[in-house]
Amino acid sequence: MHKILRGLLAALGTVLAFGTQAADWTINAGPYVPSPQSVVADMLKLAQVGPQDTVIDLGSGDGRIVLTAAKVFGARGFGVEIKDDLVKQANAAAQAQGLAARVRFMKADLFKTDVSQATVLTLYLLPHTVDLLRDKLIAELKPGTRVISHDYPLNGWHPIKTVHMDLDDKLPISGTTTTLIFLYRVPENVAGHWRATVPASVHTGPIDLELEQKYTELLGAARIAGERVPIADGRIVGRKLSFTLSTRNRTHAFEADVINGAAYGVVNAAGQRAAWRANRSTTAN
Ligand SMILES: C[S@@+](CC[C@H](N)C(=O)[O-])C[C@H]1O[C@@H](n2cnc3c(N)ncnc32)[C@H](O)[C@@H]1O
Repeated sequence: MHKILRGLLAALGTVLAFGTQAADWTINAGPYVPSPQSVVADMLKLAQVGPQDTVIDLGSGDGRIVLTAAKVFGARGFGVEIKDDLVKQANAAAQAQGLAARVRFMKADLFKTDVSQATVLTLYLLPHTVDLLRDKLIAELKPGTRVISHDYPLNGWHPIKTVHMDLDDKLPISGTTTTLIFLYRVPENVAGHWRATVPASVHTGPIDLELEQKYTELLGAARIAGERVPIADGRIVGRKLSFTLSTRNRTHAFEADVINGAAYGVVNAAGQRAAWRANRSTTAN
């Protein structure tokens, strides 16, 4: 009995030790490779950064993205970086450029940094580590926040814009001149049940929608006259929702803006446009 108990405690000790170690691990999200200054400017322009913005750069290197956001675009913000010397260099540059009141750089693990204050979040990290951030960004960032990634996409997030350039500066970095910038908007969370008021051309009376969401992709179905009609081409980008429903041998293209938990928009079928709206409901369809 004692032997069994000792064995169980030893096993528990191993799990706890492993758990503590795991919590201390830092995933290396990539070596220090600065974004060329022209790409920094293009990233910030694409995100339309302005004085009202708080820019956070995850893996901030010498601080150039946040420094440029403050100096050229009037924003404020911070960067986190695991390399001490780079953090010191970035804070010294902020001081020297008179930006220390608006920007700061901290030695921290980007995977453990609270990013909820960002209105713009920038990334230049290895591709698999960009993907590791997808759930964290959805959980912490406010809907509508702009996310800009240099070279590597957030797979499963639909970009608002993708810019493709050829830059000689990138040859020594990545062995190719190809440079990509992806711009995203954090989607509203629209998963769940909705009751929609639609034009008679779609259906007489309200219809129930059940939406499933994976990042910016929407799946699910409408319940129309007792029949399950799957939604197709579903997407939520920032607050812009869109999907199609095929009823009465017609495809209806729905678009809406999600505002304060309700959706307002237009539905288009064979060139005819009409208003529709939807509210969250507790009824399963
Ligand atoms: C490719 S550089 C990008 C630097 C800067 N963002 C830019 O675009 O010029 C990636 C940076 O992330 C830092 N980094 C890697 N893993 C990190 C982690 N877990 N936490 C914080 N910084 C990290 C690296 O030290 C490196 O400076």
